[in-house]
Amino acid sequence: MTVYSKIVGTGSYLPERVVTNRELEKSVDTTDAWIRERTGICERRIAAEDEYTLDLAEKASRRALEAANLDADEIDLIVVATTTADQIFPSTACLLQSRLRIKGCPAFDVQAVCTGFVYALGVADKFIATGAAKKALVVGAETFSRIIDWTDRNTCVLFGDGSGAVILEASDTPGVMSTHLHADGDYADYLHVPQGVSNAHAEVAAGRAYVEMNGSGVFRMAVTTLCRIADETLRHNKIDKQELDWLVPHQANIRIITATAKKLDLPMDRVIVTVDKHGNTSAASIPLALDEGVRSGKIRRGDLLMIEGFGGGFTWGSALIRY
Ligand code: ACO
Repeated sequence: MTVYSKIVGTGSYLPERVVTNRELEKSVDTTDAWIRERTGICERRIAAEDEYTLDLAEKASRRALEAANLDADEIDLIVVATTTADQIFPSTACLLQSRLRIKGCPAFDVQAVCTGFVYALGVADKFIATGAAKKALVVGAETFSRIIDWTDRNTCVLFGDGSGAVILEASDTPGVMSTHLHADGDYADYLHVPQGVSNAHAEVAAGRAYVEMNGSGVFRMAVTTLCRIADETLRHNKIDKQELDWLVPHQANIRIITATAKKLDLPMDRVIVTVDKHGNTSAASIPLALDEGVRSGKIRRGDLLMIEGFGGGFTWGSALIRY
């Protein structure tokens, strides 16, 4: 019998502090009108100084566990998608495991930047499909504000902090119907933080500890790639785009989202949009949008969803999900 993974609970968390476009006007040469028109972003949340990715991940996870009506110790796999881990090691997933007082199950991080959650979901889905796990906690959590140069108007207006989580459970009906994961490392320089650990001393990377981006290059690639992966997902499942109830896209730029929706012939009231209020929260953006869609009553049991994302690497991915 085929085993599927099914989403049985969602949760999310946003830091309290709201930073509006108007506030950014005071620190960089930008305007509220430019940011709204080019990105659709009105405001974003920024973590408090003493608030870390792990704190955000824990809050979203507890909410997802509550929604699934599960105790933490029933979880037998933890996968956290993050680019902004609190420590080099242990992984955020291991730290989260300890916070939630879960013992013994595998726990690891996945790093695929803005596609991170789709990758994490794809990995957890395969654990469940092979019988290696029965109840998985899959989290996207970021404090992206910590890798942003707040004097660089090209990047600082785009990003925010937040977290989202889902609980996946083994089921004999779908569930996650397919996941599609891709990468092309030749585009590394389009969107990157040059300084890491191993090269921190090297002249080429030292001091470049913030996001650097070729904005228009990323934009063009994101639009064409996301349209292509939407096609790939539909074709793989032999379904027509008319059958989709919801698109839950990565939230980077309203113009990228609109282009993908158009490709799928989906009216915007069938697309979950949070980019206006959250900005781009990288790996957290899809589970945040999913949780908002579920809790607002828009997404209902039985609905057919497509999630899709594109990010640094480049990486990109999608999933078709019967909610
Ligand atoms: N305020 C005012 N002007 C700005 C700002 C700003 N915050 N940022 C850039 N500009 C200026 C630039 O300096 C440039 O000026 P110039 O023409 O005098 O050189 C001009 O605006 C840039 O114009 P465009 O490149 O035409 O702007 P575009 O319409 O491409 O919008 C943006 C720029 C918003 C960055 C867009 O390219 C984009 O969203 N790219 C995708 C980036 C992204 O989403 N990255 C996140 C990770 S990947 C992902 O999640 C999909």
